[in-house]
Amino acid sequence: MSVTRAQNARHQAVAITPKHLITPQLADCDTRLAIAQTATERSIATHIEKHFPADRLAALKTQFDKNGSVQLDHILPEKIHRQYLWEIERAFKNSGEEHHLINNETRTLRKYKKLPYDIVMRESILAQRLYQSKSLQRLASSIVGDTVTELNDEFAKDRVVAHQLSKGLSHGTHVDPKLIALVLILKGLPKSAGGGMRFFNVPPRHRPVYPEKIKAITKKYRARAKTFYLPGNSAHISLAGELPHEVLPVTGPGTRVNVTHSYGTVTSDQSEQRKAYERYVYEKEVLSTDKRAPIA
Ligand SMILES: [Fe+2]
Repeated sequence: MSVTRAQNARHQAVAITPKHLITPQLADCDTRLAIAQTATERSIATHIEKHFPADRLAALKTQFDKNGSVQLDHILPEKIHRQYLWEIERAFKNSGEEHHLINNETRTLRKYKKLPYDIVMRESILAQRLYQSKSLQRLASSIVGDTVTELNDEFAKDRVVAHQLSKGLSHGTHVDPKLIALVLILKGLPKSAGGGMRFFNVPPRHRPVYPEKIKAITKKYRARAKTFYLPGNSAHISLAGELPHEVLPVTGPGTRVNVTHSYGTVTSDQSEQRKAYERYVYEKEVLSTDKRAPIA
């Protein structure tokens, strides 16, 4: 087979292109990403330093220790909050699926639009940056009183997920497989529109609550439930992997949008008992629920 002179010349040009003529462009791209990541981190660090001084952190920790959860207002710099909301709403427009699921174990109903981990991470650069943000993790750690850690094990399939709830939708009572949940509310609703997050602070002797006990325990400790009506750019940090919680039905106009970042803690990650519980909850709450057919 004959090779033309033009083909030959092109082949030689590719073959002899020195590496240093290609790599600078790639390096520029990596550098730009690294600079953007650093800029986001610096902006969050500055914001947290200003809005969460030591005395406020101490007060939040006291509330968390008492209730197992606490609300954090004005969690992100405005610009980052706006961009995160924009990225997640765009992702819902492109890929959000509405789920109407029932969990046979807990008999709770889930009706929401959800973006699973791989789609959130693919569609939102800020989801990647914020989940890995050391400043946010340090903030969570100082409230929880233990070092929170990012997750990568098999029971952390949903370590970053987004939910969107509008009129008629809700998220029934459940416990999370992972111990710590940092729920970032990107778009909130007024109390009159529903969608509050109800948290059951059951006594330590009943923790963690196993899925099959949720109904009985929440009935028994209904008086200890606290409902949070969280505005946009707030967060709720909790022991979601020990305590039952739910998002009450949205009854009014508007949409609630949140992203949940799940973490372990240095202590919980080392406990065999904790791992066994997570495996159990994962099977009961995630696998069994996700397999059910939508309700007609
Ligand atoms: Fe949850």
